[in-house]
Amino acid sequence: MIDKLTYIRKPIEEELRAFGHLFDETMNQADGLLGKICQGIAERKGKLMRPILLLLVAKEWGLRAKKQNANMHNEAPVTNAAYRAALTLELLHNASLVHDDIVDESDMRRGKPSVRSIYGNKTAVLAGDYLLSSALESASLSGDINIVNNVSLLGKQLSEGELLQLFNTQNTDFSEEKYYHIIRLKTASLFSAATRIGAISASAPDDAVIRMDRLGDIIGMCFQIRDDIFDYFNHNTGKPSGNDMLEGKLTLPALYVLNNTQDVAILEIASKVRAGIATAAEIASLVKFTKQHGGITYANDQMERFSAEAKTLIADFQNVDIRNALNNYIDFVSERTM
Ligand code: IPE
Ligand code: IPE
Ligand code: MG
Ligand code: MG
Repeated sequence: MIDKLTYIRKPIEEELRAFGHLFDETMNQADGLLGKICQGIAERKGKLMRPILLLLVAKEWGLRAKKQNANMHNEAPVTNAAYRAALTLELLHNASLVHDDIVDESDMRRGKPSVRSIYGNKTAVLAGDYLLSSALESASLSGDINIVNNVSLLGKQLSEGELLQLFNTQNTDFSEEKYYHIIRLKTASLFSAATRIGAISASAPDDAVIRMDRLGDIIGMCFQIRDDIFDYFNHNTGKPSGNDMLEGKLTLPALYVLNNTQDVAILEIASKVRAGIATAAEIASLVKFTKQHGGITYANDQMERFSAEAKTLIADFQNVDIRNALNNYIDFVSERTM
């Protein structure tokens, strides 16, 4: 898995180094308690999936622009706006994780205690707001109002998604449509912003921006479906498993089996999960039922459909290394164990 990530980073190694400096510099700006929290985050970076995606797409379109325009001979393929946008997305992602762990009452993140578990919920809310504001500052430093606009929309999508998810525990149906709507907003929106803004930062044509938007959207859906599958197993992901049902969340594998069973006892347990009153034994039995009745296989099949479409959207990428990296990126997202 680590090897695959190394391979994915290869065509943008230099750009990622520049990104890393920018990220560390930004996290070093605060002092006092905030500084300590930011240092903790900077020391334990995640996989950087969103900046990697943005930089890969930005470089493909940047290289194309250079090829078509002799005046751009001396310019780097990845613009300053792309770096600022990549930083924006990673900061916004980290802000959303700090807040998400409060909402999910989760005490582990990236193999360490979450911000909320070290400093408490109140401090974590405020630290998340600080990261969000740093993200907006970085967006404005891109100097591109179109990027600022895309980031503002993204911020709204992320919070709407988390809110819808919270209210979804009150639903009595097992709608896959609602599930997809939620994961599109809370997770895929960051990935579609990465691919869309990557293209925008390189002044790619409008039809390409639309295609890149779809690319990120389906990669992001795969990413969250995979994450939701994790929760059924004891993988060493650096965050707790089995948390979703504890929080009243029924994800794709369970939704599928619940829509295809007449088993009254299981349906009853599912309602109790949503209501937050299921016992540990009941949750375990719903997890077991989901596995035994093809829920995981079904979710894997859905990811496979998205992956296949995503690959068609990059088939005409001109830079072979970037195309290969993105094909690997798509595979990594649905196979990952971290
Ligand atoms: C975790 O995202 C949140 C989800 C969308 C499931 P990542 O798995 O990208 O988190 P880090 O940044 O690598 O820790
Ligand atoms: C991920 O949702 C979307 C976010 C806004 C972080 P999860 O709640 O499934 O993410 P993890 O599992 O805590 O990383
Ligand atoms: Mg969570
Ligand atoms: Mg999760």
